[in-house]
Order: sequence, then structure tokens, then C-alpha cells
Amino acid sequence: MSWISTLFTSSIGRKVIMSLTGLFFVVFLLVHLIGNLQLLHADGGNAFNHYAEFMAHNGLIQGMSWVMKFLFGLHAVQGLLLWRQNASAKGQKYAVKVTNNTTFAGRNMIWLGILLLVFLILHMGDFWFQMHYGDLGELDGVKDLAKLVAIKFSSPIYVGWYVISMIILGIHLWHGFDSAFQTLGARHPKYDGLVSGLGKFFAIALALGFAIIPILMFINH
Ligand code: HEM
Repeated sequence: MSWISTLFTSSIGRKVIMSLTGLFFVVFLLVHLIGNLQLLHADGGNAFNHYAEFMAHNGLIQGMSWVMKFLFGLHAVQGLLLWRQNASAKGQKYAVKVTNNTTFAGRNMIWLGILLLVFLILHMGDFWFQMHYGDLGELDGVKDLAKLVAIKFSSPIYVGWYVISMIILGIHLWHGFDSAFQTLGARHPKYDGLVSGLGKFFAIALALGFAIIPILMFINH
């Protein structure tokens, strides 16, 4: 078996793929959050709309965005396959233990991931699809995406759904970061605390950062 097929079919290979694609998605999330925070400018959505227009029409960014979608798909498919593989290995005497089952997050990564996938599919339909193919009005010569976001975040049910999804994202990342560094072997007793602390910081910062946007937009609408 070549190393490529081992990478895509063995438990440990799949964990390496999960770790690398997961860390890539975190970089995307950081950029996405920084861009989205412009929704909080009291400028009628102007800065955010120009930023969204730039992102939607820049060739390099669109290329990266398709790479990100492909890698995210790989993360989801390999996650499901890994979960199935682990489930069928349970009970086998010499099965290699590749998941940490000692915490709530560690035991439930698959379910947290599936909920996040549902969030993402609905999110893409509501915003990404509308940005690219919807009939949004214009403001200052560009599509008024900020208005659509403001309308969505004026509903308490929609805001509640976002906040719950961001708590799920935080829990998924809390375990995911630690697990990724462990899998990639990027661990040293001297830096263990630092890596773990950084992972927890990012998990909380991303979840809080994304959750605060709908909350503040709802309060201020
Ligand atoms: C307050 C929270 C959020 C807001 C206001 C928001 C807003 C948006 C908007 C307006 C778009 C369409 C514009 C564009 O395609 O560039 C978009 C796209 C997207 N969002 Fe979000 N988002 C939020 C949270 C999230 C979270 C938590 C995730 C992932 C778990 C996520 C993943 C994505 C993805 C994958 C795209 C497609 C990007 C691309 O095609 O390059 N978003 N978001």
C-alpha cells in the first residue's frame, strides 16, 4: 500500500488529514471573523459591503475560497469515515486508540461536527448564495449584503441559533486544537501548556467573536 493510500485509509492517516484541514479552516475563520467585525461599524454597512465585494471578485481570494471548501469537505468526509472505523475497531483486542474519550468534547466530536455542518449549509444558503446569486439591492455602488445580515439578525430565533452554533464551534475547537497538535507530534513537555493554552484561547476568542456580532446587531437594530 503506498503512503498516499495509507494516509487516506488508516486511522492515523485520517487523523493527520483531520488535523491539517482543521487548522487550515481555523485560519479561514480568523480572516472571516476580522472581516465580519466590520458589521459593527456604525456606517450603515458601507465598509463591510465594500470588503465583501472585494472578497467576491478577487481571483486569488476566490481560488483560496474553493481550496478551503474542498479541504472542509475532506475534513467532514474523513471525520465520518474515521468515526465509523473507530466504532468498528471497538472491542478488538489490538485496536489502536486514536481518540481521546476522556472529555465531553472528545467523546462527541462527530456529533458536534455534524451540527456544525448543518449550521454551515444553512449559513451558506443564507449569505454566500445570496451574495453571489441573490438579488440584493445596492448601496454606494456595491451589493448591500450588510442589509441582508441586519434583517437576519433582527430575529431573536435566528440570533439564538447563531449563538448556540458558536458555543458548539467553541467546544469542537477546544478539543480539536489540542488533538491536532497531538496528532501532528508538535508537542514537547516544555511547550505543552503553551500549545494547550493557545488552543483554548483561540477556541474561546473565535466562538465569542462570532457570537457577539449577531447579539450586538440584534440589540442595536
Ligand atoms: C456572526 C457570524 C457570521 C457572520 C455574520 C457571517 C457572515 C457571512 C457572510 C455575509 C458570508 C457571505 C460573504 C462571502 O461569501 O464572503 C459568509 C460566508 C461564509 N461563512 Fe460566514 N459568517 C459568520 C460565521 C461563520 C462561521 C462560524 C463559519 C464556520 C463555522 C462561517 C463560514 C462561512 C463560509 C465557509 C463562507 C463561504 C466563504 C467563501 O465562499 O469563501 N461563517 N459568512
